Amino acid sequence: MATDATEIRGLGHRVKRKEDDRFIRGKGTYVDDIKLPGMLHMAILRSPLAHAKINSIDTSRAAALPGVVAVVTGELLAEYNLAWMPTLSYDTQAVLATDKVRFQGQEVAAVVAEDPYTAKDALELIDVDYEPLEAIVSPQRALEADAPVIRDDKEGQTGNAIYHWEAGDKEATDKAFGEADVVVSLDTFYPRCHPAPLETCGCVADVNPATGQATIYMTSQAPHAHRTVFALVAGLPEENIRIVSPDIGGGFGNKVPIYPGYVAATAASLVLGRPVKWIEDRSENLISTGFARDFHMHGELALKRDGTMLGLRTHLLSDNGAFFADAQPSKFKAGLFHIVTGSYDLPAAHVAADGAYTNKAPGGVAYRCSFRVTEASYLIERLVQNAAYELGLDPAELRLKNFIKSDQFPYSSPTGFVYDSGDYHAAMNLALEKIGYDDLRKEQAEARAQGKLYGVGLASFTEVVGAGPHKDYDILGLKMFDSAELRIHPTGKAILKIGVQTQGQGHETTFAQIVAEELGIQPEDVLVQHGDTDNTPYGLGTYASRSTPTGGAATAMVSRKVREKARKIAAHLLEVSEEDVEFAHGSFSVKGAPDRAKTIGEVAFAAYTNFPDGMEPGLEDVHYYDPPNMTYPFGTYVVAVEVDPETGQWTVRRMVAVDDCGVRINPMIVEGQIHGGLTEGFGIAAMQLITFDEGGNCIGSNFIDYLIPTAWETPRFETHETVTPSPHHPIGAKGVGESATVGSPAAYVNAVIDALSHLGIRNIDMPLTKGKVWEAIQAAGGTSKEAGS
Ligand code: CDP
Repeated sequence: MATDATEIRGLGHRVKRKEDDRFIRGKGTYVDDIKLPGMLHMAILRSPLAHAKINSIDTSRAAALPGVVAVVTGELLAEYNLAWMPTLSYDTQAVLATDKVRFQGQEVAAVVAEDPYTAKDALELIDVDYEPLEAIVSPQRALEADAPVIRDDKEGQTGNAIYHWEAGDKEATDKAFGEADVVVSLDTFYPRCHPAPLETCGCVADVNPATGQATIYMTSQAPHAHRTVFALVAGLPEENIRIVSPDIGGGFGNKVPIYPGYVAATAASLVLGRPVKWIEDRSENLISTGFARDFHMHGELALKRDGTMLGLRTHLLSDNGAFFADAQPSKFKAGLFHIVTGSYDLPAAHVAADGAYTNKAPGGVAYRCSFRVTEASYLIERLVQNAAYELGLDPAELRLKNFIKSDQFPYSSPTGFVYDSGDYHAAMNLALEKIGYDDLRKEQAEARAQGKLYGVGLASFTEVVGAGPHKDYDILGLKMFDSAELRIHPTGKAILKIGVQTQGQGHETTFAQIVAEELGIQPEDVLVQHGDTDNTPYGLGTYASRSTPTGGAATAMVSRKVREKARKIAAHLLEVSEEDVEFAHGSFSVKGAPDRAKTIGEVAFAAYTNFPDGMEPGLEDVHYYDPPNMTYPFGTYVVAVEVDPETGQWTVRRMVAVDDCGVRINPMIVEGQIHGGLTEGFGIAAMQLITFDEGGNCIGSNFIDYLIPTAWETPRFETHETVTPSPHHPIGAKGVGESATVGSPAAYVNAVIDALSHLGIRNIDMPLTKGKVWEAIQAAGGTSKEAGS
């Protein structure tokens, strides 16, 4: 009997998240929940100084403390060739420092003890003789000729420059600028932020001395890639390494790098023959693990007097910290910053980027964005607003005039991307309609007349996600694709094993919905497994919104492969030829005779009990998906704010977000992703900042100093959608996980600047703390002159 279409909860259904039952009931299993017999505990001694020579490390007092099993130093690791490890950018990073410390919080030694408290106590008994050196806390100082060389461990490194990289057509861009009526420029800084996942990083390393089998439970966004890197670093045979990434309490890019703690714990387990657990605390996470952003940007936009955009020129200076550890593809030195032309039909663009070492923690991770896309989106949207002021045009009008038109897709951007699809006008028009833009501008004029500081800010964005086509994207040479393995059991239930790794995005639900859509098996009957390298096919991990574009596509493709075999079995059961069988809503029926049908459950049972002669039994397959292109989600955000002139405090009055991520698998989950991203974008715009004093001391090492928005101060969001399917994705979906964090900071900042613009203020760097906004108002002469203007 054919199943009713409405009963199968495939694409577009707001299926409740399957994984939430265990999370809400406290039944999840995070790394710190894992306890193995005979397990030891490791704590790490970190450098109090940002830059210092190490004269000596005396571990004798710590080693003598009862309960301490071993004290590990870089010197000891060097005996196993593990004192240094490669980063994901072909640089090297100290596991435990031997020669110098290069940032505050750097790993210097590790204590392994019978319990975590003894391990921590013993850290205080390690005596390190440091000889302080000048701490370099800005990339500008780092690149001065007389700056001390931070990476004197690297042969041939004579300064602190890491790279110089360019993209786009410089000549064509210079020509466009030569023809411009107006050039708008902006210098802005996107400050250092930290992804700050709820669960900090850690691992339990269990190397079995008898078998040589290493099982490493670890907070990893990319377990397969990490297994391969471990095999290369430690020289262990890859089949002997099993990485298990259990429930992960948020990643946001922070759990992509390999951290010294993982390597030190594994080395300790290898040497001691017992499992070793290492879990960092909040301050360790904030001061030493992968930060994001820290980008100094200069942009110039060339326009005609009527507002037509002609060209874009940018220069970037990246503060990479002491070790170059971004995980960007080798082809893109500054990540995907060249999406900086955004949603605009810009004929010419040129991007130049420099990276520098400083005495800060390494990172540059893709914190809720593809690499550097957030920075790019921020720069172009700030420039466009300034251009509108300069030309006396409405910022919405200027955008609508220059957007790439829907009939121009696929669109080749001047910096080398081919945007798959889009309708930017539709997204912006919907946002303007939903917020009541014209009325809002009237309200703003009235508010200004009364001396109030009222602003309306817009930002449109085009994201580039889903790495990626293997020809352009890799991590340490590992080509980027992703995988899914699907097995249908005799009773018609299924297990789907995926190469990507979930950290709270709801893959156990959405990926099951893709199977439901393709095969008609209900999502609750599809168990989704991930994060165990012995039990899932090879994949490159989850970050930069790549799961749905790659792993989601692999899931659709493997379901289709399984469906083709199921069709053959159905034909056998129905005693017709395969061509006469059609499939809909979980049922195979005879063309023209819909009552003659077999359900997917009946077919699955036959795959094990009554399959045609000559056919391989069983119903399962695997698919490795190499996408032909990235996907390009987009949207428009509009924010209205009021700024209190007495305090600088700004309050969001309205926030309308229109997002287009193509076909939505689970609209509820997508909305949750967007709410999360909008909140993070607000946090970055308003309060999140990791900074350093002149000695290189990290300010922002705890949640008193590093401010994460709570429900109290987070504005109310009004979310809406347009749907422009990706033409190359098997189910038309584009990634969405990062979009709102990419697009929204510029909208908040543009709104505050719009409120202050008639005081002559055109630029304030994030985060827009009330003190900073108040100071800007004072520097502009206060608010007395704005009444009636
Ligand atoms: O890689 P990551 O999971 O962080 O990002 P994503 O692929 O953009 O997906 C985030 C969540 O939203 C996943 O659960 C997706 O399956 C879901 N999603 C969706 O339901 N529909 C889309 N068009 C895109 C994502």
